[in-house]
Amino acid sequence: MSGKNPAIAKKTWSNRWTFMLAAAGSAIGLGNIWKFPYITGEYGGGAFVLIYLICIAVMGIPLLMAETAIGRNTRLSPLNGIKKLTGELGVSRLWQVIGWMGMLSGFLILSFYSVIAGWSLSYAWDLLTGVFHGMNPARVSGEFSGLMASAPRQIMWHTAFMLITLFITARGIHKGLEKGLQVMMPALFLLLLIMLGYSMLETGQFMRGLDFMFSIDFSRLTAAAIPAALGQAFFTLSLGMCALMAYGAYMPSSNSIARTAFSVAILDTIMAVISGLVVFPIVFAYGLEPGSGPGLLFVSLTAAFANMPMGEWFGFLFFVLVGLAALSSAISLVEPVVAWMTERVNISRTMATVLVSVAVWLVGLGTVFSFSGDFEVRFFDKNFFELVDFLTSSILLPLGGMLIAIFAGWIMKRSMIMNELALSIGLFNLWRAMTRQLFP
Ligand code: TRP
Repeated sequence: MSGKNPAIAKKTWSNRWTFMLAAAGSAIGLGNIWKFPYITGEYGGGAFVLIYLICIAVMGIPLLMAETAIGRNTRLSPLNGIKKLTGELGVSRLWQVIGWMGMLSGFLILSFYSVIAGWSLSYAWDLLTGVFHGMNPARVSGEFSGLMASAPRQIMWHTAFMLITLFITARGIHKGLEKGLQVMMPALFLLLLIMLGYSMLETGQFMRGLDFMFSIDFSRLTAAAIPAALGQAFFTLSLGMCALMAYGAYMPSSNSIARTAFSVAILDTIMAVISGLVVFPIVFAYGLEPGSGPGLLFVSLTAAFANMPMGEWFGFLFFVLVGLAALSSAISLVEPVVAWMTERVNISRTMATVLVSVAVWLVGLGTVFSFSGDFEVRFFDKNFFELVDFLTSSILLPLGGMLIAIFAGWIMKRSMIMNELALSIGLFNLWRAMTRQLFP
């Protein structure tokens, strides 16, 4: 197939690990390390985690396979790929809405993602320069409030993060991504393990953390927890906005989509669960509040870093790596728009990246101001950040995911998908039943 066409083959990743690395790099990010612990805290622990894990298994993995398969089948940017498929299949061009929604979601997610990644860079810097040295947890919390109150500080780091994203994205996937990811992901994993050791041995609250995350108490579950868990499953696997479709377009035909999808989902889940197991024992040990919201990771871990031997070095390294994990995710958030702009409007990749980045940066200011309190407007009882987060995680991603699943399960020819997935017939039928029945 396409792999034999030399013109196209050139555009595939350099080896079979690269897609896996890029997909894992996209999946693993702030969603695992920052968002998973804080929304688990907000929704009361165990029962939320259970629903989240079920969503990953029954919807996340099949959809991951569907997105990758569509991307690899078309070898184009998501929007143009779907346009081409609707033409070939003779179905309504309205399906292109998948591509449009995907670009919109990626754009909106990146606008707040960059602000939070900026916090991480700010923490790395403050730990390095000794700001937190020996501080008690109350003062660490106070510092977080200080960062929230200061729009200029947040804007500075948000700008820094967007500039780095711009620079790497503009250089293109090959040069920009591959090398860095190979070092960074294992390093982040190792550091999380070190922190896990700290939570287990030093906090004295490990069992309580474990209990909070895994003992299932449905009475603590609110109705809002179910869409939140589904949204988080999509968010953490980078699903529902065609990011993996865009990456799938560069995947060599010989790779197994199913195996890759499983590995990515498992790695991603391990990272999220470990982050929770690191955060909650510290939260309990220092008397912090599990449901305290977006500051949870920053306050709890920094309280630990401020008081452990070599903590400031570990802390610096940790937040730098979180920033890098966020970077590899951020790149996948802009990739669909940038790829489409270069194909469609015939501008250079650099120019496309600059235009998109400036726009994302501007929208991100809304998030900064909603944390700093300079922008008190509330829509449906949510501030700007909460609104964008809700609109993307709870609406656009699940809706996009559902449309992608229906497209792959009902609209595309059975043989097209079957070729890409290369599964045994039993597994293929299982996949097809899941995408065809479960999502609608
Ligand atoms: N999955 C990433 C995380 O957990 C964020 C992300 C990257 C994402 N690309 C995406 C979320 C596409 C939704 C869709 O941090």
